[in-house]
Amino acid sequence: MNAVIGQTPRAGYSLPREYYTDPALFEQDMERLLLRHWFCAGHVSSVPATGDFFLVDLGRESVILCRAADGAVHALLNVCRHRGSRVCVTRSGSAAGGGFTCPYHAWSYGLDGRLRAAREMPSGFRREDSSLKALQLRVLEGLIFISFADAPPALDDAARALANAAGVHGWASAKVAHRASFEIRANWKLAVENYMECYHCQPSHPEFARRHVLARPATQTAELERTAAAHSAALGIHIEDVDGYGLNARAGQESISVMRSALHAGHVTASPDGQPLAPLMGEFKQHDGSSTYFDVGPTSDFLAYPDHGVIYRFIPRSVDRTDMEVIWLVHADSVEGRDHSLERLTWLWQVTSVEDKLIIERNQEGVNSRYYEPGPYSLQEDYAARFVAWYLDELGISPPLQRRVASPAR
Ligand code: FES
Ligand SMILES: [Fe+2]
Repeated sequence: MNAVIGQTPRAGYSLPREYYTDPALFEQDMERLLLRHWFCAGHVSSVPATGDFFLVDLGRESVILCRAADGAVHALLNVCRHRGSRVCVTRSGSAAGGGFTCPYHAWSYGLDGRLRAAREMPSGFRREDSSLKALQLRVLEGLIFISFADAPPALDDAARALANAAGVHGWASAKVAHRASFEIRANWKLAVENYMECYHCQPSHPEFARRHVLARPATQTAELERTAAAHSAALGIHIEDVDGYGLNARAGQESISVMRSALHAGHVTASPDGQPLAPLMGEFKQHDGSSTYFDVGPTSDFLAYPDHGVIYRFIPRSVDRTDMEVIWLVHADSVEGRDHSLERLTWLWQVTSVEDKLIIERNQEGVNSRYYEPGPYSLQEDYAARFVAWYLDELGISPPLQRRVASPAR
């Protein structure tokens, strides 16, 4: 049953205030959408050896991502099977003794979640019934996806699209160069809507807009995009655009989109001076002047350049707080200081993320006002409108919103 709301959502308009402010609606978002879908937990290079682990959060939940002795990565709920304490209280590291020991009463778990030891339990206690609960986990092109659902949407379409897009960019064998987290005092949907549209790029992101043609309306950039696509093809780079985003996802499949877009002349990547940032990755033998955007599910977004990658993870924490984690990927052999400079590598998406945090928080402040009314999305906010249409559809909220046709630009 849906939480009670004051205003009815309208197709093509931003959502009524309650959707961005009501704690009951946030709980509904968690139950009916966020915990049911897949989201990216990070990259496998963060857990290269047996025992390596890191924590990820979503809402009130904490999950241990760790590599077990059999080489597999596991996603274990960080809730002790004794009396519920957090088991792992360190954000990342290597598990001493090949497992996790609860700090409360010292129940000890293996890297696969199995309970190894529990002191002074009564006869009849069965350790095998007290493993840490495990989440669904899939690794696609080095990206770790997890879902809290018992039967989450299928990842066949996403796997196929990522094998091409992330595959050409060599992400399966990439490594994490840097990660940064931004705490945004806003509802997660405002953060996602902002990511999914580039209407704000010209006014709010001068650094991005000078480098990416995506900041311009599609009508102004069609010729540039065609020329860039022909150039990429001539260099042997073949990445298919895919539009299985939101309501365009096939029935039972997780949402997936892939979109190629050109960089402006004089810029081969997202650097301050337009020059290369790091060794070329995957199938790239030259810079081709393009970038690839892809999105899986509601909160996991990715951007690939020929010489580095960027993972955007939106992590809803509460109705008015969202963490945005940005992870930079480079070629596994790239050495900081020799092959790439962290300052140059992270510059564009650091400054862009700081700008985004500011504009999203201002958006939330205005939405909190009693005078806020939902407003119409522009043509350049098609993907934000599609996100909202999908969101409402997931919650089973009327009015029925029409399936949108593919659009060349966000
Ligand atoms: S709550 Fe973990 S050992 Fe008691
Ligand atoms: Fe932005």
